[in-house]
Amino acid sequence: MTEYKIALLGFGGVNRALAQLVSEKNDAWAEELGFTLKIVGVSDIFLGSVVGKNGLDPEALVALPATKGALASFENGSAEPANETVICHSGADIVAEATFTNPVDGQPATTFCRWALEKGISIVTTNKGPVALHAAGLKKLAASTGSYFEFEGAVMSGTPVIRLAQEALAGSEITGFKGILNGTSNFILSKMQGGLDFAAALSQAQELGYAEADPTADVEGHDVRLKVVILANELLGAKLTPNDVSCEGISKITEQDIQDAAAKDSRWKLIGSAHRDADGTVTASVRPNLLPTTNALAGVTGATNAVSFETNLLGPVTVVGAGAGRIETAYALLSDIISIHKKKSKKVI
Ligand code: HSE
Repeated sequence: MTEYKIALLGFGGVNRALAQLVSEKNDAWAEELGFTLKIVGVSDIFLGSVVGKNGLDPEALVALPATKGALASFENGSAEPANETVICHSGADIVAEATFTNPVDGQPATTFCRWALEKGISIVTTNKGPVALHAAGLKKLAASTGSYFEFEGAVMSGTPVIRLAQEALAGSEITGFKGILNGTSNFILSKMQGGLDFAAALSQAQELGYAEADPTADVEGHDVRLKVVILANELLGAKLTPNDVSCEGISKITEQDIQDAAAKDSRWKLIGSAHRDADGTVTASVRPNLLPTTNALAGVTGATNAVSFETNLLGPVTVVGAGAGRIETAYALLSDIISIHKKKSKKVI
């Protein structure tokens, strides 16, 4: 039985949910997936760090209080983060990187990814910064050391849009996409439609773990812009940076706008899109669209996301599913680990 040793970088909602999955499902995974996971290190800017080469108790990690330096209560734990030690010296085969997204330069997460990949340790990440800004370099580095850089959770949490498009839709000639790609803003718009005000709806989205550490990224469209860059670069062969994508969020949409739209059988939705023209030019944008309720994307509510791929051979193909959430995003990390396991198993055969 294969056992992967994993180190958790960032121990907010997502990696805590991964620890919960490990504590509840390792036995089932042995049977269903052919591997188990052992957590050998954790580092978090607020909670501190711990390395346990023989395995840390996932249940104890799940129960850890969210108080500053709490990891010091573990044997050999410290109240200080120790990113490099946990990445490079915990014996991990795979690092689950779920620190905060920095949309400007992708740091410090990009450096964490490099430290791991340089040593041949694979990365699974939900972090949009390193993927949107540095995917090409990180993939090249991974290839050079025989490690893997996987990032399904960077777009639509565990809903498999990237892998689905790259694998199941290979050859279908994807020419573009349109999608609802931010759970928080879609949740807010849906709640406002139900009569809740913007601030109360945002506060609920934060409590449910949908929002970014700085929710400005959600409501001003910056989070969608990174996701559009990731999808355009991965699926349309573009080389976009965030500055290439025009961007407007939902913060200017008022309760009156939402009521006026409803009176016209329409709904406001924040849409991220990109299209590749015949000459190869890719144009992309993020902006609120007023959609008739008959439009498939208009019916997507709450934190649910959807993306509709334009393909030459199949016409539009739409995927609807979770766009945010702790367990939903932790599942993306698991799906990346499954992908690594399959690739490694193929290599051995
Ligand atoms: N804040 C993001 C959202 C999390 O609401 O969609 C998932 O990327």
